[in-house]
Amino acid sequence: MLRDPEKQVMEKAYARWAPVYDVLCGPVFLNGRRAAAAAARGVGGRILEIGVGTGLSFDDYDATTEITGIDISEPMIAKARGRLTRGRYPYVKDLRVMDAHDLSFADASFDCVVGQFVITLVEDPERVLSECARVVKPGGQIVLVNHLYSERGLAAAVERLLAERARKLGLRPEFPFARLAAWAERHGGTELIERRKVKPFGVYTLVRFRRAEIKRVAA
Ligand SMILES: C[S@@+](CC[C@H](N)C(=O)[O-])C[C@H]1O[C@@H](n2cnc3c(N)ncnc32)[C@H](O)[C@@H]1O
Repeated sequence: MLRDPEKQVMEKAYARWAPVYDVLCGPVFLNGRRAAAAAARGVGGRILEIGVGTGLSFDDYDATTEITGIDISEPMIAKARGRLTRGRYPYVKDLRVMDAHDLSFADASFDCVVGQFVITLVEDPERVLSECARVVKPGGQIVLVNHLYSERGLAAAVERLLAERARKLGLRPEFPFARLAAWAERHGGTELIERRKVKPFGVYTLVRFRRAEIKRVAA
């Protein structure tokens, strides 16, 4: 297993991706994006998208939600802002350049935090998950969608083989689900409530965590 990706490598990679991202990656990630946004709409309310990219997901939300998006890449966020012209997505309230490791939001600010194809790309995934858990309200959810490591067989071997090259492109095929589950176990304040393959091809996995409600002690 390679070390986790460095922030600078990702910034550099996504500055290069920004002009062509929608054409090349848009269709590839479509099913995963839609599945994650549908899960987030099920929660509703204030939604934070970490690694929002060029804002391809804006079409998947509606006026029952209020979207805040953050991304470490200035060129990606610039593209996302470009989508907001002519008032097309009135429910997108705020887009900021921000590192998901250090969210500048108060505790319990959002009903749901969504990470579409980002958690495998960050320098310290456990820290990012803990930040997501901090800013989500008790009873709120963290929704992630990603390609996760196949772990066994030919697919796993190919993913290991591609890992080093994929890194330079800003991709990471060898990130295991076990790491997400281990984080939840250690964190203690969140529980895994769903893990499923996204139809029709099952290439992507959708994972949902719920932040524990605060227990009220009777007087
Ligand atoms: C594969 S793209 C996914 C973009 C978008 N979520 C989508 O599904 O189209 C990954 C995004 O994560 C962003 N990213 C990587 N590391 C980040 C970090 N530490 N904090 C915030 N965003 C980050 C990249 O700049 C890029 O826009």
